Amino acid sequence: MKKALLKIWLLMAFGIIASGCNAQAPSEEGLKDALEGKFYMGAAMNDQVILGNDTSSLKILQQHFNSITSENVMKSGPIQPVEGEFAFDLPDRFVDYGLQNGLYIVGHCLVWHSQAPRWFFVDEKGNEVSREVLIERIKTHIFTVVGRYKGKVDCWDVVNEAFEDNGSWRKTKFYQIIGEEFMELAFRFAHEADPDAELIYNDYSMHQKGRRDAVVNMVNDLKAKGLRIDGVGMQAHYGMGHPGFDEFEESLLAFSGTGVDVHITELDVTVLPTPDRRVGAEVSASFEYQEKMNPYAKGLPEKESAALNDRYLDFFKLFLKHGDKIKRVTTWGISDIHSWKNNWPIRGRTNYPLLFDRNYQAKPVVEDIIKATKQ
Ligand code: XIL
Repeated sequence: MKKALLKIWLLMAFGIIASGCNAQAPSEEGLKDALEGKFYMGAAMNDQVILGNDTSSLKILQQHFNSITSENVMKSGPIQPVEGEFAFDLPDRFVDYGLQNGLYIVGHCLVWHSQAPRWFFVDEKGNEVSREVLIERIKTHIFTVVGRYKGKVDCWDVVNEAFEDNGSWRKTKFYQIIGEEFMELAFRFAHEADPDAELIYNDYSMHQKGRRDAVVNMVNDLKAKGLRIDGVGMQAHYGMGHPGFDEFEESLLAFSGTGVDVHITELDVTVLPTPDRRVGAEVSASFEYQEKMNPYAKGLPEKESAALNDRYLDFFKLFLKHGDKIKRVTTWGISDIHSWKNNWPIRGRTNYPLLFDRNYQAKPVVEDIIKATKQ
């Protein structure tokens, strides 16, 4: 009898010690803690996360991230669907969440041809508006949105995707109606609306020489005109084979060389076959579903998982190498299950592009990144 009691006591004592050890296990350390003093670790928040419905994602956000970006709710279409009528409910919640949790808040985005409301470029008869009217609309939009979150949103993606791969200006309505000047006007208005906010230019395929050179020229031009620009955002919607680390690093150094911060703004890595590599992250690109384009619908095999892990880790090693030039690394979402990469550029696929899997578990690379910060 006594022996049995002793055994129970020993088991209990061992249990307490063991659970005490667990409590100090390094896995409790979040990415944001490990990366402290290097760069912010951010994630894009979708509507369900902003609304507080996706509690599993929120838990991850709390542990690992200290910066947030609005995935959709602050784009011009969602935020001003009708001229003069602003939908501030979700953006307010997004900003409040960031303020309550002391996060670095990024507003995405002020001037972008995509997800812009149709009314923005036409009059009541459906005819294209004049240069003056479009400038006035941009001004009102920026003053209203940036003004509302003055002193709250830390950083704005002022202009998104204004250049082509070859470095020429993208022929958007902003460009066609106003000309190149829309860029400086947008930055001027944003600065006037909140003089303390950081302002950045954001684009995809920034590793490409054409776009790299165009962005460097544009940043230098804005600076020469005395305008405020704090950073360049490299979206970083990547694949397993592209871009090469060399071309990525060359762009990073070129942007940093203009004297601004580099932000990695929308990082994700697709393991799925790409129907056309030229699309970069062109949201309007769309291809028909084919079974063979969705090879991992039942799960990602070990070999592919390991390769994805390595690719992510190599990127983070590069980010750490240039930690003094990088302000923030943001992943475009939290868990694989809600990534836009499941539906772009082909709808209905099963993709694995983020750091947290479909069951909201950290992929092994999270621990590897934390380890890499200590080396
Ligand atoms: C994407 C969102 O993730 C999707 O939910 C939406 O349907 C389309 O836009 N570049 C950008 C982001 O700057 O705003 C895009 O986000 C992805 C590409």
